[in-house]
Amino acid sequence: MAKTLFCSPGQSFNVKFQEVSVDLLAAFLINLNKMNKDKLNSLSKCSGNFKDKRLMEYIFLMTKELRLDPLTGYHATELLQRFMVKHLTDLLTTPTPQGAASDQPRSYEDAIFDKIKEKFPLIIFSCVQLASKLSLHSRIINNNTAVHFLQSVGHSVSKPILLESELMILKGLEFRLNVPNPLTYVESLLEVLGHNEPSIPVEHLYDLCHQVLQFVSLQRTSIYDTLLKAATQCGSPSREQRDNFVTVTEDYMLLGVGVIAVATFILHVKKWEQVVGELSHITGISSRSISDFTHVTLMHIVKSSFSSTPA
Ligand SMILES: *[C@@H]1O[C@H](CO)[C@@H](O)[C@H](O)[C@H]1NC(C)=O
Repeated sequence: MAKTLFCSPGQSFNVKFQEVSVDLLAAFLINLNKMNKDKLNSLSKCSGNFKDKRLMEYIFLMTKELRLDPLTGYHATELLQRFMVKHLTDLLTTPTPQGAASDQPRSYEDAIFDKIKEKFPLIIFSCVQLASKLSLHSRIINNNTAVHFLQSVGHSVSKPILLESELMILKGLEFRLNVPNPLTYVESLLEVLGHNEPSIPVEHLYDLCHQVLQFVSLQRTSIYDTLLKAATQCGSPSREQRDNFVTVTEDYMLLGVGVIAVATFILHVKKWEQVVGELSHITGISSRSISDFTHVTLMHIVKSSFSSTPA
């Protein structure tokens, strides 16, 4: 039995179901799609600025060290991105204090950046801590663990300061913590794929998808740059083309299907076309876009595994 769910003009989800819970799954996917659309409709120019490779790596390592669910790391990244853009915008658009600025506006900005630089490690940590409290099946970082961990990486922070930092982030985000994160998209799409195509061993794909998503997150700049150049057929895309491309780099539905397609290619190449077709059928994203994403990501994986081999 097949059921087609219309959720927004031009896009429908096709979920075949054998179990009651699939209705729930379909509803969940529709909601994810809506969140993705809403996000893409309200992107700021700074989207993705705080998804720098070193920052992502730092957060991934921290989640590993603290034995948190990988979802927590992805969620923390999203919180950090949103908070920092909001925080910096607020700070830089606040009228400069009397006397501090008029003759030297530059030093006022520098003072802001210096202050943020000092607080930044704690801000990152607080985002991870907040994210850990939102995850159902993750350990929650309590304030003892937090103080010990920060001390072990060279930051001596008291419990009241930790609390203050969490509150600052909560307020900055206007208490809106339920933001889309890419791993949720991958997991939900895999779930639907498994229901629609029982012959596809999604359990086997699951672990590899995690690794592929991590790879794409770390190599984000380079992968999307190649995709942009392919899409525009231009070696040096214009500023405007780059700005417009954020609707692609921030599209988690595309990222989700792309990651699954890459993992399928690696693990079950014979099933690849079938999976791409089904993913396209589920999300309405063209097979061509999914293939391009697979192709570019695989090239990066191959390139990076060669370049890390000692000569
Ligand atoms: C630290 O955590 C304990 C237990 O969760 C709580 O009772 C206490 O208020 C916390 N202290 C601060 C300063 O946040």
